[in-house]
Amino acid sequence: MAEPHPVDLRSDTVTRPTPAMREAMLAAPVGDDVYDEDPTVHELERRTAALLGHEAGLYCATGSLTNVLGVRSLVEPGQEVLCDAEAHIARAEMGAHAAVSGLTMRTWPSEGGVTTVAQVERLLSPAAGPYLVSTGAIALENTHNFAGGTVQPLEHLQELSALAAAAGVGRHLDGARLWNAHVATGVPLETYGRLFDTVSVCFSKGMGAPVGSVLVGSAETVRRARVWRKRLGAGWRQAGMLAAACLHALDSHLDDLAADHAAARAFADAVAERAPGATEPERVQTNIVLLRSTGSAAAVVAGARERGVLLSAVGPKLVRAVTHRDVSGEDCARAGEVVGELLTADAA
Ligand SMILES: Cc1ncc(COP(=O)(O)O)c(C=O)c1O
Repeated sequence: MAEPHPVDLRSDTVTRPTPAMREAMLAAPVGDDVYDEDPTVHELERRTAALLGHEAGLYCATGSLTNVLGVRSLVEPGQEVLCDAEAHIARAEMGAHAAVSGLTMRTWPSEGGVTTVAQVERLLSPAAGPYLVSTGAIALENTHNFAGGTVQPLEHLQELSALAAAAGVGRHLDGARLWNAHVATGVPLETYGRLFDTVSVCFSKGMGAPVGSVLVGSAETVRRARVWRKRLGAGWRQAGMLAAACLHALDSHLDDLAADHAAARAFADAVAERAPGATEPERVQTNIVLLRSTGSAAAVVAGARERGVLLSAVGPKLVRAVTHRDVSGEDCARAGEVVGELLTADAA
């Protein structure tokens, strides 16, 4: 029998706006953003760009869209973007980069989500001439979702950025959860941001806003991305009401991500205590925990749901739990006990 209020660890996207956030949304001054006249959208774009050390920003409905616009601004149709095989842009954007932008992808196997210089160096083919596909850009993800919230080491990012720049290849960062990397490591957002030509950040995940992501880059890149956004039918009007939620999240929610990270560790500890080997708590760096099941991941997800814990299957035998501001640390620890017992039974 399901509990009345399941502990929902499917994703940090399930977070709902707080009363204070809703108030900020109601009070937002707005204008028509297709005419580039929404003052609240302008403030969000300006602040996000400044935080990440870039000239300009573009507020969009989703992180998938800001990734598509960012990568498209760096890679021409018929060129390739390099990314790891578990990247969100490769696995979860419904082939948009191929279907919409006409790009191909080459990938390397993800090793815990961390990309090394050697992996990229092997594939990099700038200006490959008339016989091979030319690399337009590399795309990295920080934190890495499907690898379990992994933070990319700063030294790797610096080396990869320098490698791509020397090759004349663009650099895109899917920073949907860059906030988490920043809170986990203390590395300034600007330090991360300046290593890339375009960066996408999401406010609709752990930051707790209902909608929205911002793409940052040079003023010229953002001007072109604005054209592409409209071309894709994704221009919007009084979006300031939504942007106000993102501004509120910047002011009031960013530091709270540390509590999500502690809750993820508590969840993983509770699982590992009961089902040793199902997860490695010491590898939990941010708000995502991966669990290996012996049987099918779908069966574990179904079993957990019956016990009042919602999880996601992200591979045939891989289950994901994501902590966020709408679940307490105690709820997460309790959920870890339940899931640990379930996984012990699964392995028996
Ligand atoms: C790493 C990463 N990038 C991009 C996205 C896309 O965001 P959206 O769901 O807003 O399209 C997600 C969504 O979960 C994500 O985890």
